[in-house]
Amino acid sequence: MRVVEGPLQAPFVLPFEVQDLGMDDPQQLSAAGLGEVMAAASPEALEQVRIKYLGRQGLVTGLMRGLGALPADARRDAGARLNALKDALADAVAARGAELARAARAARLAGERADVTLPVSSDRVGRIHPISQTIDEIIAIFGEMGFAVAEGPHIEDDFYNFTALNIPPEHPARQEHDTFYLPERADGSRLVLRTHTSPVQIRTMRAQPPPLRIIVPGRTFRCDHDATHSPMFHQVEGLVIDRTTHMGHLKGCLIEFCRAFFGIEDLPVRFRPSYFPFTEPSAEVDIGCSRSGGELRIGAGADWLEILGSGMVHPQVLRNCGIDPDEYQGFAFGMGIERVAMLKYGIPDLRTFYESDLRWLRHYGFLPLDIPSPVRGPLR
Ligand code: PHE
Repeated sequence: MRVVEGPLQAPFVLPFEVQDLGMDDPQQLSAAGLGEVMAAASPEALEQVRIKYLGRQGLVTGLMRGLGALPADARRDAGARLNALKDALADAVAARGAELARAARAARLAGERADVTLPVSSDRVGRIHPISQTIDEIIAIFGEMGFAVAEGPHIEDDFYNFTALNIPPEHPARQEHDTFYLPERADGSRLVLRTHTSPVQIRTMRAQPPPLRIIVPGRTFRCDHDATHSPMFHQVEGLVIDRTTHMGHLKGCLIEFCRAFFGIEDLPVRFRPSYFPFTEPSAEVDIGCSRSGGELRIGAGADWLEILGSGMVHPQVLRNCGIDPDEYQGFAFGMGIERVAMLKYGIPDLRTFYESDLRWLRHYGFLPLDIPSPVRGPLR
C-alpha cells in the first residue's frame, strides 16, 4: 500500500485518462470517488465511501464485472487500467483514514491538555500514607549520611533468611520468627516470606565488595496477628562494612538518626546489651520518654522505649558472604517502621495502617508536596 503523507490533493492524480478505459463513465466515477474520499469527515463516513466504490456491490467492482463483455485485447488493457483506478482509490482511502486518525489524536491530546503550572489544590491530590512518609524520612536522614538504598525479594530462600545469618536449622530464633512457609518443593526445601529485612544484608555483601553503606526499607512477614502485631509489617535494615568500622560508629550513627528522626536535639538514646545470632556484640536501642497522666511523650524523661535492634556484624556472617573478618568489620541494625511511625505521629492502633480508611488517611496522611527533609521536617 502506498502511504501518502500530507494533504491529500496532490498525490492522487490518476495514472491514466479514464476515458481510455472505453467505458461509459469511469472518468466521472473516479473523480467523484476521490472527491468523496477526501470529503469524508469521519472514519465511519470514509468506510461508507469505500463500500460504495470498492465494496462487493461497489461501483468500481461493478465496472470490473462489465469487463467480461469487452473483446479480448480491449479487456486486458481496460482491466489493467481499472485495477490502477481501484488501487488509486484504495490508497486514497488509506491515506484519508490515516489523516482522520491523526486529526482525532490531535483533538484528543488537545482535550487532555493539563496546565502543570497551576497551583495544586491539596484537597484533590490525596495523601501520602504514614508508612511511605516515614520510609521517605528515614531514607532522607540516612541519605545525608551517605547510605544508599538497597532492596531484596519478599519471598526468600531459607539460606538468606536464616542460615547465612548464622541461624542454623533447629535454632530457637527460627521458631520466634513465626515464619510463613511456602509449600515444600521437590527437593524438600521450602521458600519463606522473609521474616526480617536482614537477608538483604547477605544479598548485598555477596553481590558487591566492601566498603558498604546501605539501608533497606521493605515489607516483612510473620505469622502473628493482634493489636500490636500484623502479619505484614515494614522494617528498615542498615548495614555498614569497612576496614575500621567499630561500635563507636554504630552508636554515633544511631544516636544521630534517632535525634534527627524525632526532631529532638537532646533526645536521650540508650544502648542495652542484647542478643541476635547475626551480630556480636548486639545492642537494643532505647529512646527517652515520659509517661505522665497517661500521655506518652518522646524526649528526656523517666522512661525508655525500645525502637531498634543492632550490633556488630558477626564474623561468621561475614565469612558466609566471602568477606574476611580479619580485614573487614561493620555494624547492622533493624527497625520496625510501624512502631517508629506510631511513636512519632501519635498513631494509637497498628491495625489502622492497613484498613485503607480514607478518613484515617486524611487525618494521619501527608501532603504529597511536602518533600521529607532532615532539615525541615514534615509539615502536616
Ligand atoms: N533482624 C532483626 C529483627 O528482625 C533486627 C536486627 C537487624 C538486629 C540487624 C540486629 C541487626 O528483629
